[in-house]
Amino acid sequence: MALPSINPTNTESWKKLQEHFKTIKDVHMKDLFAQDKDRANKFTIKWDDFYVDFSKNRITEETFKYLLELANNVKLKEAIKSQFSGEIINQTEGRAVLHTALRAPKTAEFNVDGVNVIPEVYQVKEKIEAFTNEVINGDRKGYTGKAFTDVVNIGIGGSDLGPAMVVEALQYYKNHLTTHFVSNVDGDHVNEVIKKLNPETTLFVIVSKTFTTQETLSNANTIKEWFLKSANEEAIAKQFVAVSTNIESVKSFGIDENNIFPMWDWVGGRFSLWSAVGLSISLAVGYNNFDSLLKGANKMDEHFKNEDFDTNIPVVLALLSVWYNNFFNAESEAIIGYSQYLNQFATYLQQGIMESNGKSIDRNGNPIDYETGTLIWGEPGTNSQHAFFQLIHQGTKLIPADFIGFKESLHGNQDHQDKLISNFLAQTEALLNGKTEDEVVAEGTRSDIIPFKVFKGNKPTNTLFINKLTPESLGKLIAMYEHKIFVQGIIWNIFSYDQFGVELGKQLASKILQEFNNSAVSNHDSSTSNLLSYYKSKS
Ligand code: F6P
Repeated sequence: MALPSINPTNTESWKKLQEHFKTIKDVHMKDLFAQDKDRANKFTIKWDDFYVDFSKNRITEETFKYLLELANNVKLKEAIKSQFSGEIINQTEGRAVLHTALRAPKTAEFNVDGVNVIPEVYQVKEKIEAFTNEVINGDRKGYTGKAFTDVVNIGIGGSDLGPAMVVEALQYYKNHLTTHFVSNVDGDHVNEVIKKLNPETTLFVIVSKTFTTQETLSNANTIKEWFLKSANEEAIAKQFVAVSTNIESVKSFGIDENNIFPMWDWVGGRFSLWSAVGLSISLAVGYNNFDSLLKGANKMDEHFKNEDFDTNIPVVLALLSVWYNNFFNAESEAIIGYSQYLNQFATYLQQGIMESNGKSIDRNGNPIDYETGTLIWGEPGTNSQHAFFQLIHQGTKLIPADFIGFKESLHGNQDHQDKLISNFLAQTEALLNGKTEDEVVAEGTRSDIIPFKVFKGNKPTNTLFINKLTPESLGKLIAMYEHKIFVQGIIWNIFSYDQFGVELGKQLASKILQEFNNSAVSNHDSSTSNLLSYYKSKS
């Protein structure tokens, strides 16, 4: 069954939201808090080790009611069911979307074309577990008989960002293996990594769903050439493994069939860290931690699938995002993790969110005349406070932000933790309240400086307070955003699981690459032709 295709702007709830927006757009959240002492409790969801306070948003109970109606009007419940039951909801590519199957229990049933995929998923998980243990224990060795010290993940996009983000986020749980990531086709990237490696003790994990991606194959070949300067062809079988759906191409690269970890076309690249694409995560933190990450994600899946919408975290966050994107015309959202471990979290989400929902054609194939995908950006707090927070506080743009913090720090330095969390709480309070002219005057400010020191406030934030950064809580957090992406795609009536927009640039790059070796430069606009000639004249 196809996904429902409903233009959200034609729904009753959308019209109600439009009318309602007129009455609320200038209301200050400060007044809403003053009017309702119970506001924070009303707009907080406590689930497992998550405390999600969305009361600092420019909404009332009426807004929330209409947003929930919108979810019903676009048949979200039915769409969730379609996703989880393995229907071909990635219609433009003719595929099911079942990353949720990768983290489901062994007893679950997820059917693709009438076949339960769970036994296959568990076969691959067992292979990941056995391989991980052998590498960590030193039972699997390099070509000179030495145990591995380093792992290099070679991949790009979804075959890099997820593993790289998780390995960074879970570095507290890391073992003795040093993990490196090579993604960019910029040769300086791979060469900087190679500089740090010993060919005898490095394991190479080539991750490419298609095994056709230019960047990944170029990096893999460069590494292979470098490796073969000290080792012979047979050594490749010991030290190179691959994760791919394209088994034949992996074999022609020289990789032993036993060292291929399969994946499936029903797992999108940007949702694939739960599959063997996460092999470098498993190697870095051990299989049990990798499995806990998956279990956490599965808990969020169950929450998303079963919880009523008003207490369903991904649904609520998605609705709020639609509220700002489509009614307040907010163009971007910031994701601020108050944990240095979340350093790459926003970068990771940029692919998940922007590659999925950066679409302008609806599910009927027609151009869309309302806003879709939000721009995503962010950096950890408190660093970002000293970088771009000025613009969020006093700039002209409305930037809704998710603040993510952990009650317990991992290293247990309470002094630092208290300072970190005081900033975490202070920022959302400041963004809510701002500072009035009276308050600025009361501080004894010189009269001509007063306007510059006034903060309007009324800047929306969600606070996600989580007990502790563990593999399990990280799994829940990532899955939460994955489901938020899905809900928004359903509301905006777009297909979230293809990415045709990245193809054009790739095609033109191959054409231009060929022209570097031809004498003539043709068929380009004059700007590109000049730039191309300039590059060719470089030496
Ligand atoms: O950027 C486009 C894209 O197809 C992503 O969706 C994907 O994650 C990435 O390229 C890498 O693809 P592959 O895993 O096939 O090398």
